[in-house]
Amino acid sequence: MLSAVPRPVTVRVPAKINLHLAVGGVRPDGFHDLVTVFHAVSLFDEVSVEPAEEPTLDVHGDGVAEVPLDATNLAWRAVELLAERAGRAPDVRVTLRKGIPVAGGMAGGSADAAGALVALSALWRMELGREELSGLAAELGSDVTFGLHGGTALGTGRGEQVIPVLARHRLHWVIALARGGLSTPAVFGELDRLRGGAEPPERPVEPVLEALAGGDPRQLALNLGNDLQAAAVSMAPDLRRTLRAGVNAGAIAGLVSGSGPTCAFLCADSDAAVEVATELAGMGVCRTVRVAHGPVGGARVIDEHEPP
Ligand code: C5P
Repeated sequence: MLSAVPRPVTVRVPAKINLHLAVGGVRPDGFHDLVTVFHAVSLFDEVSVEPAEEPTLDVHGDGVAEVPLDATNLAWRAVELLAERAGRAPDVRVTLRKGIPVAGGMAGGSADAAGALVALSALWRMELGREELSGLAAELGSDVTFGLHGGTALGTGRGEQVIPVLARHRLHWVIALARGGLSTPAVFGELDRLRGGAEPPERPVEPVLEALAGGDPRQLALNLGNDLQAAAVSMAPDLRRTLRAGVNAGAIAGLVSGSGPTCAFLCADSDAAVEVATELAGMGVCRTVRVAHGPVGGARVIDEHEPP
């Protein structure tokens, strides 16, 4: 006898920051080659799916006005992709509860897509393997595969090729959310403009991997780096002030997360993170401040015992 599938199925999925982001040249498909170190942190979205008469998408939480509710929504595209794969109609209600900043450079949309893949494949009992899910994720976006895996991982290709890396200790972060958002394609475009056709500079990943393996946050702090930061700061110059403020407040390093405008500050320990967050919140350099830690796991079902 089949056991009852919980309805709705809810999946929790984390935000990411990039501890290292080296952006190479533009590829023929318009994407940039990347070498990046993804790191999942404890800001989460929840994605619920349940059977419905009509395909429906609901979004709740911070920044919902900015989330598209049409067919461009990445979680909805995940539903359509899986429906096509399963050969059935996308007759489900998808509910997103946003805890990850929208358009913040923390892969919130990609997280929702990863969550939708895991939730719907559970609801429909598709029993897809890791490889199959990763393949579907890569079709949806560059950061979706990492949303499935979580942890700390090396990303290559356009970001969709992900392998876990050894990260010995919990890291403590303060996340500064900005007032507006930045468009990821626009930030990549600004980087190309700033480079003016010159060869991308060298940004070796090995020191970051060594620092992660060693587990000393101060060593890691010396080696964090993001090629998109200059482009994000060029488009949102106030970020310079935010980055300085976090370090003045006691963080051991600060960087723009992905394409921004969210900034992530590495702190020596959890007490320091609370102190930095408190001080930063009073400085008026960002919309709001969160304390987070990483690495955390990727997309996983959280309400297995709800009655059908
Ligand atoms: O893959 P994803 O949909 O998240 O990418 C959003 C946009 O960011 C792409 O359309 C592209 O403009 C830019 N991008 C890029 N190179 C990458 C990843 C993203 O140029 N490796």
